[in-house]
Amino acid sequence: MRNSNRNSVIITSALPYANGEIHLGHISSTYLPADIFRRFLKLNGVEVYHLCASDDFGTPVLIETEKKRTKPELYVKYWHDKDIDDFNSVGIVFDSFSQTSSETNRMFVQYVFNVLKKRRLVYEKEVVQYYCEKDLKFLPDRYVIGKCPYCGAEDQYSDLCEKCGRIPEKILDPRCAICGMPPVKKKSNHYFFKLSNFEDVLEKWLKENKLLQQDVKKYVLNWIVEGLQDWDITRDISWGVNIPITGNEKKDKVFYGWFDNHLCYISSLIELLGDVNKAKEIWNSSKIYHFIGKDIVYHHYLFLPAIRMGINEEYKLPDLIPTRGHLMLQNNKISKSRNWYIGLREFVNLFQADYLRFYIASICSYSQDDINFDWNDFEKKINNELIANIGNFVNRTLTFIKKYFRNVIPNPNEYDEADRKSLAEIESIGNTVGGFILGNEIDKALKNILSFSSRFNQYFQKKEPWKKPEQSAATLFISINAVRSLSILLAPFIPFSVEEVWKQMSLEGSIYEQSWKTIGSILLKPGHKLGDIEPIFKKVDTDKIKEQENKLNNS
Ligand code: 2FM
Ligand code: ZN
Repeated sequence: MRNSNRNSVIITSALPYANGEIHLGHISSTYLPADIFRRFLKLNGVEVYHLCASDDFGTPVLIETEKKRTKPELYVKYWHDKDIDDFNSVGIVFDSFSQTSSETNRMFVQYVFNVLKKRRLVYEKEVVQYYCEKDLKFLPDRYVIGKCPYCGAEDQYSDLCEKCGRIPEKILDPRCAICGMPPVKKKSNHYFFKLSNFEDVLEKWLKENKLLQQDVKKYVLNWIVEGLQDWDITRDISWGVNIPITGNEKKDKVFYGWFDNHLCYISSLIELLGDVNKAKEIWNSSKIYHFIGKDIVYHHYLFLPAIRMGINEEYKLPDLIPTRGHLMLQNNKISKSRNWYIGLREFVNLFQADYLRFYIASICSYSQDDINFDWNDFEKKINNELIANIGNFVNRTLTFIKKYFRNVIPNPNEYDEADRKSLAEIESIGNTVGGFILGNEIDKALKNILSFSSRFNQYFQKKEPWKKPEQSAATLFISINAVRSLSILLAPFIPFSVEEVWKQMSLEGSIYEQSWKTIGSILLKPGHKLGDIEPIFKKVDTDKIKEQENKLNNS
């Protein structure tokens, strides 16, 4: 079953917490690269499933709902729905966007736990936990605030200091995050997953898998050398997947969010197909890609594969975990609390979604290195590359045919050396760009598309068709076919704009009904009438950019 010839790919994107707005950092590290990949595969006729969900559980969600006096179910539904709208607004498409709190996921998580338990890969152990005697509850992770032992910052979470970014081993002057009282310590029974059992098999898997990024692999292998600790997979709170204890579920004790969230990659496929066996068959005969940001490497390269190995690889391990660095904003770390941040909604209210996609793709390297969003650079790339290069070539070709050939593609008479060279460029560009996208190098793919367009601008310029329009049929015939190729090449990157070009060329249906392979063919024939023409892009206004810079600097 595992090595069938099925041409299918499962793409997952790290699940966003149902606890805040999607921002540009999420888009660049995870969702845009995944969406570009999905669109590319679709154009290649691959059966693709892009799976994601809102990550509904965890203490931060529960604390917020307690503050707002609302029910967690309602709170996470609000963010889940908002995420869907936001992703839609920038053309990020999922085949399923579920919730970790879905019934299917709850059942699947309990099933996995039971298998692990049967195989003695989880064990119970007594742990000492903070407990608030006023609120009568255990206080895991974010329920305890105090002073960071490293930088001395007050009011930091016990599991993360937002000031210095470190994870305190022991917070100073601990207080309950709800009522502010100092907590007491109390014993509680927890389940642990034997991650330490998996050191050898994980090491073998990492070393044998040639597709995984070398730089990430190196530091993950180092963590194994340092030794892996067993994971406490339970929490003493009420919001989460209940722990199945025969006949009777334990109340106020649930699974840790990182035990259940990645299982939703699988359960959302089960939910989508409505059939466990079918889901299992598709999962195991597909290539699996988990797209993530570098902050969750430990979870995806060690914990997640170990759990899958723990259930006997009933669902296969990932083939690749494309991992990317963070997005900086004007060379500073994005921070919501310091207001150094751009929300997705805010962005698309200012500029076309495709401008964001184009800019981010152009700087999005396939590595752990952080990349930088810079407003000036954004303006330059949109105005000088997207508009002055691509927009110009598309528009001048269409306009010329309209003006001199009554909007009808002319019949080429004879080809000269330059024409033949251009035809050869059309023939080969699809493979070059496709190779880069397949290798996850979307920035390089886009660079090659830009060079293609720029060479066609030069070709057009050198031919000077405006001097003798009646002898320019070959130039225009080749150019309009290059516009068609360019549209398909750009379809994964700027989907809204290419649909518009498609319409202006008066071509039937959606561009996604085309095949990537046809990029190299001359399919627009003489006699085809083009549609109404209008410039696709509008220049980015410098004043608008200045406004954004000032807004950030005054925040
Ligand atoms: O770090 C995060 O934002 C998590 N919500 C990612 C979860 S991905 C998982 F499900 F594997
Ligand atoms: Zn309290």
